Amino acid sequence: MGTRIIGTGSCLPETVVTNDDLAKIMDTSDEWISTRTGIRERHLAKDETTAGMSAEAARRAMENAGVTAQEIDLIIVGTVTADQVTPACACEVQAEIGADHAVAFDINAACSGFMFALHIAHAYLQTGVYRTALIIGAETLSKIMDWSDRSTCVLFGDGAGAAVVRADGQPGGLLAFDQGTDGVKGRVLSCPNRSNNNPLVETSRELKYVHMDGQEVYKFAVTQVPASLQKTVEAAHLAMEDIDFYALHQANIRILQAVAKRLKVPEDRFPVSLDHCGNISAASVPILLDEMNRKGLLKPGMKIALAGFGGGLTWASAVLEW
Ligand code: COA
Repeated sequence: MGTRIIGTGSCLPETVVTNDDLAKIMDTSDEWISTRTGIRERHLAKDETTAGMSAEAARRAMENAGVTAQEIDLIIVGTVTADQVTPACACEVQAEIGADHAVAFDINAACSGFMFALHIAHAYLQTGVYRTALIIGAETLSKIMDWSDRSTCVLFGDGAGAAVVRADGQPGGLLAFDQGTDGVKGRVLSCPNRSNNNPLVETSRELKYVHMDGQEVYKFAVTQVPASLQKTVEAAHLAMEDIDFYALHQANIRILQAVAKRLKVPEDRFPVSLDHCGNISAASVPILLDEMNRKGLLKPGMKIALAGFGGGLTWASAVLEW
């Protein structure tokens, strides 16, 4: 029974911040950021919230899929920046869109969050427990950045992307997937950002923001992502050249180029949104997919490889027949 993406949607904050805008508030330049990363601008949230953008992306995905909120059985939001500890972002989305029959929860797999949500939804749908799921990747990373660390804060943006996923009894859909984690290396990309409020414990109340060892994360990405994609494409009984598009997490153009080179696939099969979005962690893959969908690039029968990678460390890939 195929698990198929039947609709996509996305939502970006109104405020666009260019590299030149950043150069006005920190010691950086458009030249440094764009040559090392491919990023030219990003959207940063002011009034927008993770739940609000998630709900808007969800509405657009449901409209694109032609399904109503009443048909949604399951809502999973991949995020590391839910607006509050509880209720979950997914529960706020449920309330906002009126998906009364759904069960809703968040997962934290950082930049692989949407991919993990897709695989969890697939597992639920294949059991027959649920028929239609709404999976969302959403972040307001700007609120957890260390804005005094120019090597990290310039890379990230805010936004949300969503997909409606359905088990429809047809062949095709999700053909194969792979996912993994390496907690031992988790420290290379971390964000403690919690303080203990227990009066019995003497501890610092200081909040700590995103910290990243960029070079270690780069090495992880350019080895783990091609390995995972290779495994998934093989499991789908396909060759690298059979894949029409590689829609990867949008962290850095150099990572996309290095993965393309390792897989011996032309770079033009790797669509790019990081130039105008930056890295939006869990939201990157669904926003990219929605952009491709709305441009009419995705045709029935096409083979699409997806991959996410990031904090945890986590990684995940999938091959879909559109
Ligand atoms: N503007 C200007 N200069 C900057 C800068 C900025 N925004 N950030 C760092 N620099 C400087 C550094 O201070 C350093 O200067 P120095 O040589 O005088 O000490 C120099 O640029 C090189 O810094 P370095 O950190 O070694 O750069 P790099 O070539 O490793 O590139 C990244 C940094 C972050 C672009 C790169 O490591 C990367 O892309 N890593 C992957 C990160 C990622 O994608 N993470 C998310 C995965 S989900």
